[in-house]
Amino acid sequence: MQSLAGKTALITGGGRGIGAAIARRLAGDGARVAITYGRSRDSAEALVSEIVASGGEALALRADNRDPQALEAAVEEVAVRHGTIDVLVNNAGIFHTGTIDELTLEDFDRTMDINVRAVFVASKAATRQMPDGGRVITIGSNLAPRVPWPGIGLYSMSKAALAGFTRGLARDLGGRRINVNVIHPGSTDTDMNPADGEMSDAQRGLMAIPRYSDPSDVAGMVAWLAGPEGRSVTGAEFTIDNGANA
Ligand SMILES: NC(=O)c1ccc[n+]([C@@H]2O[C@H](COP(=O)([O-])OP(=O)(O)OC[C@H]3O[C@@H](n4cnc5c(N)ncnc54)[C@H](OP(=O)(O)O)[C@@H]3O)[C@@H](O)[C@H]2O)c1
Repeated sequence: MQSLAGKTALITGGGRGIGAAIARRLAGDGARVAITYGRSRDSAEALVSEIVASGGEALALRADNRDPQALEAAVEEVAVRHGTIDVLVNNAGIFHTGTIDELTLEDFDRTMDINVRAVFVASKAATRQMPDGGRVITIGSNLAPRVPWPGIGLYSMSKAALAGFTRGLARDLGGRRINVNVIHPGSTDTDMNPADGEMSDAQRGLMAIPRYSDPSDVAGMVAWLAGPEGRSVTGAEFTIDNGANA
């Protein structure tokens, strides 16, 4: 029996990178998956075809994280189609760097809209539909609790906000037996942070085990939190960073 058989999972930014790995994994564990995308329509639709070809159920919806109405409409559409949303994965995010003298208010607004406000919007809309036993899993960053270099303060602030929100949401929804957790990946090989990128050796230099994670490593942790064995874990932060923050 697949651990997520009969469940519906919505993953924001599921068209590529870590979000795509999460969608693949949850579909492999039996969930019907819905993914949102902002710009990556082709890769989102290719992923849906891949999941359907391997016997799963999947759906891609355009919803820019900067547009709360679009995000709420996507959540609503998934709930109408499937009758429920059992698992929400807040994954979509951007990594905008710059020191305080370089950053503008526009940079601040864009990062906070995509990385923070959209998590609030999607969590509020999805948990309205979520039955007892549901899960909210948010992708933070190991740069939330630690900032090893200049130029990461804005991103770090946005991801640190998610940890506080996770604890609060866990308290708000505990009475409905909904578990809420945040995963903090470290360097993970995606377009955002390629394992052969300019800063990759410096990142490996911080790690106890000097290697990048694969997106599927993060997806495995999501699957565990979404599945039956994660039922006693809520309001918690999980770091998966090869010991960079150790
Ligand atoms: N890779 C790492 O080393 C690392 C480490 C720690 C945390 N993270 C976090 O993990 C998550 C996924 O990152 P990734 O590495 O997979 O990055 P990625 O390869 O750059 O993918 C980013 C994802 O976010 C979506 N996204 C960005 N802006 C969006 C918007 N305005 N509206 C809707 N979707 C939007 C993208 O969708 P579209 O292309 O469709 O816009 C894409 O699916 C992010 O929250 C990131 O902060 C990554």
